[in-house]
Amino acid sequence: MGQTRVHLLASLGAFYLILAISMVTADLTNDLDILWGNSKVFYDSSGKRTISLSLDRWTTSAFQSKSTYLYGRIDVDIKLVAGNSAGTVTTLYMITEGLWQFHDEIDLEFLGNITGEPYTLHTNLYARGKGGREKQYKLWFDPTADFHTYTIIWNQRSILILVDDKLIRQIKNNLMYGVPYPNYQPMRVYGSIWNADDWATMGGRVKTDWSQAPFTAYFQNYRAIACPPQQSSPLCAQSFGNWFNQELDETRKQQLQEVDTNYKIYDYCTDTKRFKDSLPKECTLN
Ligand SMILES: *[C@@H]1O[C@H](CO)[C@@H](O)[C@H](O)[C@H]1NC(C)=O
Repeated sequence: MGQTRVHLLASLGAFYLILAISMVTADLTNDLDILWGNSKVFYDSSGKRTISLSLDRWTTSAFQSKSTYLYGRIDVDIKLVAGNSAGTVTTLYMITEGLWQFHDEIDLEFLGNITGEPYTLHTNLYARGKGGREKQYKLWFDPTADFHTYTIIWNQRSILILVDDKLIRQIKNNLMYGVPYPNYQPMRVYGSIWNADDWATMGGRVKTDWSQAPFTAYFQNYRAIACPPQQSSPLCAQSFGNWFNQELDETRKQQLQEVDTNYKIYDYCTDTKRFKDSLPKECTLN
């Protein structure tokens, strides 16, 4: 009897200990799997669980989410490779797992640069296998000095990309005009770092300086909310300040405008060199 009770208490104690630990660490390893490469999960100096992804000449690194999402909101805090990061690309993206020729993908790619020069945030969308909807942005802060929050909101109405809660891009669902939009395949979230010195920095003219390797980017505080279409979840509504499935309010429209004016450095919709007289259909809508 006595022994059973001690056992029970001991295992209850262990249970609460495990519970306490997993509450502290719930943010990362519960939700993400390290895929390959030189990746580490550790506590940073502020006591937060962090994943570091490193790149060297022989290794790229990546993680993926355990869950897939068909509509939802993803927030991750990222600190990019400091110093000479030219040629490296750090990514946060969502992608489907079905047939490649019909795949959907939402991309945030951070193109590194030589020391002291700004990063470019490259964004793109693939829907039913068709991409080519690139827009690029400068950031209004040094993304290597600290963590900043990058957000993807994906719902039936639009895809929204936010940086530190500032809306930088909206991709509207124009399916009714025959423009492909991701609307039926779930996506998984990935983070990665890889070498793209064939195109990333000044169109490939600046090469990765491998003497600076390993190049390391840090991800922390992964937050994901799944918002399945048939389910009205109060969490989904709340977490978007009630605009998950709404038109943008004036504040958000102003943010978009401000970012377009001050930080957008490339827009496929204005690239007449590339498309000549036939801009993609969505560029001439709205
Ligand atoms: C690197 O910095 C230069 C100079 O500011 C800028 O023109 C270029 O777009 C940057 N490249 C990338 C890949 O961010």
